Amino acid sequence: MDLFTRFADPNATPRGANCFLCHSHVVQKGVALPANFTSNGLDQFPTDAGVGAVTGQPEHHGTFKIPTVRNIALTAPYMHDGRFQTLEEVVEHYDQHLQPHANLDPILRDLGNVRPGYLDLSASEKTALVAFLHTFTDTALTTDPQYANPFTSLGLREQPIAALPRLFVLGENFPNPFNGQTEMVLTVLRTAQIRVSILDILGREVRILKEGTLSAGRHQLRWDGTDNQGMALSGGIYFCRALSLESNPGATAPQVKKVVLLK
Ligand code: HEC
Repeated sequence: MDLFTRFADPNATPRGANCFLCHSHVVQKGVALPANFTSNGLDQFPTDAGVGAVTGQPEHHGTFKIPTVRNIALTAPYMHDGRFQTLEEVVEHYDQHLQPHANLDPILRDLGNVRPGYLDLSASEKTALVAFLHTFTDTALTTDPQYANPFTSLGLREQPIAALPRLFVLGENFPNPFNGQTEMVLTVLRTAQIRVSILDILGREVRILKEGTLSAGRHQLRWDGTDNQGMALSGGIYFCRALSLESNPGATAPQVKKVVLLK
């Protein structure tokens, strides 16, 4: 970590490699950042003018946006043209192979550990720096299904379809709460044996609204707050339940809606 976050300085222990001076998007506060694009010395004579191609300014020629290093171990190849396959190659570039382009960032050109422009890291320092870059890997982010491709089986598309009841859908009743009479719509998707009834708060079936073969389509049902004998029930919470009477009811679980009867 010190290699990433400290200045290159031959007399310092441990020494640094200046990386944070540019790649510090997460710790920007208090750090004087250069412009968010610069040259990191890939080529002396770049074939791609980078930002300069857009602005036409000579001082932007051969400069590129400073990328984030979050999840950097997962996003090879590296640089705007993908020239480096590994982080080891990236570190080797900064260590020994900076090219003297006119716009090479002064941080890279003038600062070094032994000689300006060279980090001259030891083999173990390079290994440690690559290992540190791996610590930017955040698998909590990369495996979060919220950020998954919505068009794959992991995405949202399949689930609601699979969860949809296949035989019928019981809608909310209206009005609710009610006093007098309330109505609800049962949408039947294919002709089926169904019972729709009212249960009291203890789960007793106090009134059957509909029972038998219902054809596909919308069925309007009504409840006037009475039981099977036509006696007015007391006010309170009831449940309207639609139940499949098919011999294999596994296709559709019972559906229940809360109904409030006011007195
Ligand atoms: C002067 C600013 C500067 C410094 C200092 C610097 N970089 Fe960079 N870095 C850049 C720029 C600009 C790019 C993008 C270059 C490109 O796209 O061609 C880059 C690209 C990278 C990339 C590739 C990112 C990708 O997604 O392709 C890695 C990895 C990286 N730098 C690591 C480091 C490390 C490690 C250090 C320290 C040894 C360091 N950098 C020091 C400016 C800097």
